Amino acid sequence: MTSESMELRREIAQGEARLTSDPLVAGAVHPCLDLMRSRRQTSPKRLVDPGPSEKQIHALFEAAAQAPDHGRIRPWRFVRVGAAARPDLGEAFASALRERDALAGPTQLRDARDKALRSPFLALAIARLDDAHAEIPAAERCVSLGCALQNMLLGAHALGYGAGLVSGQALHSRALLDLFGIEAGELAVCFIAVGTVSQDKPTRARPAPRDFVSSL
Ligand SMILES: Cc1cc2nc3c(=O)[nH]c(=O)nc-3n(C[C@H](O)[C@H](O)[C@H](O)COP(=O)(O)O)c2cc1C
Repeated sequence: MTSESMELRREIAQGEARLTSDPLVAGAVHPCLDLMRSRRQTSPKRLVDPGPSEKQIHALFEAAAQAPDHGRIRPWRFVRVGAAARPDLGEAFASALRERDALAGPTQLRDARDKALRSPFLALAIARLDDAHAEIPAAERCVSLGCALQNMLLGAHALGYGAGLVSGQALHSRALLDLFGIEAGELAVCFIAVGTVSQDKPTRARPAPRDFVSSL
C-alpha cells in the first residue's frame, strides 16, 4: 500500500469516527437534546417540597443570564416570592379577583389566596419594554425573556425538579402591579414555579418538525 493510500484510509477512518460521534448524524440522542425532549409543564399545584436549594436557585438564575440578549440590555428581571411573602401575594390575587368580579364570594376568594401557596420556588418574570434602547424591538426583548425562562425550566428539569409557567388575568391587576413594583414600560409576563413533582403526568404530543418547518 502506498503512503498516499494509507493517508487516504486514515482520513476516511477519521471522518467516519467524527460522523459516528455526532449524535445527530449517528441517530443517537445527545443528553442535552434528551433533556429538552423530556421537559414538560408541571402545574404549580403539583409542585411540592423540597424545592431547589439557594445554590440551585442561583444556578437557575445564572442559566437565565445565558439567554441571548440583542444589544446586551437585559430586557427582563425576576422577582422571587419567598415563603414570608406568600400571604401578601394571596391578598393581591384576592384583590385582583375583586377588581374583575365585585361579586366574588368567600370560596372564590379563598381559592385565589390559596394559589399563592403553591410551589416551593416561585418568581415573577417581568419584561422591560420601555423606550430606552428603542432600537431593540419588543418582540426581541420577549424572545430574550422566553429564552431565559426556558433555560431555567431546562435547568430545573436537569436538577430533577418539575417546573412550569403560569400567567392569568391577575398579572395585570393594580394589586399585582403594586405588590411587585412594576413600572411603566414593564410587563409582568408569567410566574415560574419549581419544585418536586407530587404527581407526574404524561408529556403532551409534540408538533412534528414537518408541520412547522418549510424551505425556500
Ligand atoms: C408565557 C407563558 C404563560 C403560561 N401560562 C400558563 C398558565 O397560566 N397556565 C397553564 O396551565 N400553563 C401556562 N403555560 C404553560 C403552557 O400551558 C404549557 O407550556 C403548554 O401546556 C405546553 O406544555 P409543555 O410545556 O409541557 O409543552 C404558560 C406558558 C407560557 C410560555
